Order: sequence, then structure tokens, then C-alpha cells
Amino acid sequence: MLIRHLQPTDQPAYAALWHDMLSDQGDYFRIALADEPEPRIPTGYSAGSFTLGAFDPCGELLGSVSLDRNRQTKLRHKALLFRMGVRRSAAGQGVGRALLQQALASAAQESGLHHIMLTVLANNSRAIRLYTSAGFRLSGSEPYSVNINGNLIEELHMTCHLPLTPGNQSGF
Ligand SMILES: CC(C)(COP(=O)(O)OP(=O)(O)OC[C@H]1O[C@@H](n2cnc3c(N)ncnc32)[C@H](O)[C@@H]1OP(=O)(O)O)[C@@H](O)C(=O)NCCC(=O)NCCS
Repeated sequence: MLIRHLQPTDQPAYAALWHDMLSDQGDYFRIALADEPEPRIPTGYSAGSFTLGAFDPCGELLGSVSLDRNRQTKLRHKALLFRMGVRRSAAGQGVGRALLQQALASAAQESGLHHIMLTVLANNSRAIRLYTSAGFRLSGSEPYSVNINGNLIEELHMTCHLPLTPGNQSGF
């Protein structure tokens, strides 16, 4: 498996992946396919705003995750991790964990970046288990947050505090 930063040329593969994800596993997400029928890579292509893709040996995009650093002066120590997904056919084989670890490793190289935040539906035990094992902890929750087929599902807010490294310890 190869994990790398997606580039604009990866847009068709990204759109196909997320069209499938939102069709097939849409109940895990706060976005709906109807909102974005042709999903676009949702970040920039810089160290603080990127999307990682995991590819199989044939070059098929199996999954992706995005990270976007806050640009506001007082909030630059925080970034949002979002749109984490792995094709059902590739689930349970370590793809999600590899994407998450690489995203956190890239974030840890960013000067002054210490908090990685995410939201996850409270009924998504598989993803919560992955995030918890990677160091994310519950930092809040919002009851009745997302309407999934008429059921208002609670959203959990989780935060991972990056360890201070030579790469990220300055920059406040
Ligand atoms: C959640 C998801 C990203 C995990 O990716 P994955 O490649 O399937 O997961 P991995 O094989 O890397 O497993 C990582 C960890 O996830 C958890 N996990 C994976 N499959 C699981 C299952 N069937 N049941 C419970 N936990 C599971 C485990 O903690 C696992 O670690 P372990 O194997 O050491 O126990 C992926 O299944 C997915 O895309 N699900 C649908 C979309 C989604 O929920 N996205 C997150 C939105 S916040």
C-alpha cells in the first residue's frame, strides 16, 4: 500500500472514491451525496492543508483523509481532521490506521500545530475505536446533531494533542 498527498490530478479518483463512500456508507458522515454529487478534494495542497490517499499496488484509491489547519492567528495551533473513509472492500486491513498515523505524523512536522480535532457520530464505534487508539480523546459532544434518515444522532468531538517535537514546538 502506498500513502501519499493527493494532487489536483487525483481529482477523478477522489470523486469516484467519495461518490462510492457516500452512496455505500453515507450513514457515517455529516455530508450527503446530494450536497456534493461530484466530491472534490476538500483541502489545499500545502503542509497545513492536505488530503492523503491510500493506494493499492494497482493504483486504486482505497481510502483518504483530509486535514485543514486553522488560519486565524489565535487558532493556528489547531487543525481539523475530516473526511476519513476506506472502501468497504478494503476495510479492516489497516488502511484507516495507516492514513491516520501518516496524517498525524505530517501534522507533527508543522510548526506550532498541537491540537488535531475531529467529529464522529456517536454510534460509529469502529471509527471511535480507531481514533481512541491513535490518541484522540473526547472533548465534547452535541446531542441531536446530524439527521440520519430521520434520526437525530449525537456527534462526539475528539481531540488529539500532538507531542512536542523539534518540528512543531515553535511557532506560537
Ligand atoms: C472507520 C474506518 C475509517 C476504519 O478504517 P479501516 O481501514 O477499516 O480500519 P483498520 O483496519 O485500519 O483498523 C483500525 C482500527 O479500527 C477499528 N476497527 C476496524 N474495523 C473494526 C470493526 N469491524 N469493529 C470494531 N473496530 C474496528 C479497530 O480499533 C482497529 O484497530 P485494531 O485492528 O488494532 O483493533 C473505515 O472502516 C471506514 O471508512 N468506515 C466507514 C466510514 C467512517 O466511519 N469514517 C469515519 C467518519 S468519522
